[in-house]
Amino acid sequence: MTAEAELRIGVIGLGMAGALMTQVIDQHPRMKLAGAAEINAELRANFSRVRSEPVVADVAELVRRNDIDAVYIATPHQFHREHAVIAAEQGKHVIVEKPMALTLDDCDAMIEAAERNGVTLIVGHTHSFAPAIARMRELIASGEIGRLAMLSMLNYTDFLYRPRRPEELDTAKGGGILFNQVPHQVDVARFLAGSEVTSVRAVTWKLDPRRPTEGCCMALLNFANGCSASVVYSGYDHFDSDELHGWIGEGGYLKKPAHGATQRSWESFADAAQEAQERSRRYGYGGSVSLAAATPKHQPHFGTVIVTGEKGDLRQSPDGVLVYSRDGVREVALPAVTGRPGRAEVLDELFGAVVGGSSAPHDGRFARGTVAACLAILQSALQGREVFLDVHRSRESLA
Ligand SMILES: NC(=O)c1ccc[n+]([C@@H]2O[C@H](COP(=O)([O-])OP(=O)(O)OC[C@H]3O[C@@H](n4cnc5c(N)ncnc54)[C@H](O)[C@@H]3O)[C@@H](O)[C@H]2O)c1
Repeated sequence: MTAEAELRIGVIGLGMAGALMTQVIDQHPRMKLAGAAEINAELRANFSRVRSEPVVADVAELVRRNDIDAVYIATPHQFHREHAVIAAEQGKHVIVEKPMALTLDDCDAMIEAAERNGVTLIVGHTHSFAPAIARMRELIASGEIGRLAMLSMLNYTDFLYRPRRPEELDTAKGGGILFNQVPHQVDVARFLAGSEVTSVRAVTWKLDPRRPTEGCCMALLNFANGCSASVVYSGYDHFDSDELHGWIGEGGYLKKPAHGATQRSWESFADAAQEAQERSRRYGYGGSVSLAAATPKHQPHFGTVIVTGEKGDLRQSPDGVLVYSRDGVREVALPAVTGRPGRAEVLDELFGAVVGGSSAPHDGRFARGTVAACLAILQSALQGREVFLDVHRSRESLA
């Protein structure tokens, strides 16, 4: 492939994440949407109504095509292993959504299939690709704030009351915040720390029996390089920490306070079937949420992230990163927002790795460490003790 090359990409799963990514692919100068696979006939019909690329029901049929270089996998977590392996076996590069998988065995199978077939495997934890997080990582690496000590992270959202399918409320099947939201924070923490997690002590709560999965969590992650991260997440739609961000929401859009509105809206569903159908209709391809494709005004964020080093602190601002030190505070501005920051960078990383031969910081091995830390959070909370991770083994595993 030449530096002028274009990657032809197939999207697997046209739900919320897949629908968004089709727009990001369209806006990317080096990516071309080549087709899609989706089992839901209504979503396939929505796609075909407005696009000419083929859409099929069967993933195997999509990945067999010779005119596709890579796939973006946005099926529910429990299918990530199957779909990543089947794509790698057909020689396709893979971007798989977060969480990489639900078990470390699944992660290993995906890494092994990618390596054996010589394809790139990237895990698209959008928020650790965000420009502000990348800039924080550069500032840490520059030595400006000295040795890293603490990462303080918190996020309060309405996550638990957004429309769900029943399995998304079952922790054993990858439901709840520990497999869906906390992985973003853990991934950002690991990306900024530049070191592996050595131990975890966590507590979690299930505060609403109608949503019987973890909805809030406090975790302390200790890293091999001596720094620690506190990770706080709550998805109960009471306090909304976007209030601390000038009502700039996660995606970088301005929003209005609406405490409790998501929960009240959920309470109006007749039953679980109607809720699941609404989830697909609203968020899937062609739905009202996926059609709302305006460009964000500010940088995306995933709640508060304060980085503390021996000589200074870093914090995200609406349009950049603030650096606090004995000399005062200065803002490092980021390029103006175009498209959907965070998602375009996932495609850039794939393109750089496949065409440019650059390394992929968010590869399968890196992402496996995030899964390991999230499983350790669950284990620590269930057992009421600190859980140690063995970073000396060539493959990280829960001790
Ligand atoms: N990075 C992010 O910020 C972000 C945001 C949302 C979702 N995600 C991740 O993306 C994945 C999908 O989440 P979502 O919210 O889009 O879910 P979703 O349910 O809206 O979409 C998944 C789609 O996959 C389809 N599907 C299921 N099995 C299939 C199969 N065998 N073949 C083809 N299609 C199949 C479903 O019909 C559905 O339309 C999850 O792992 C989630 O964690 C990541």
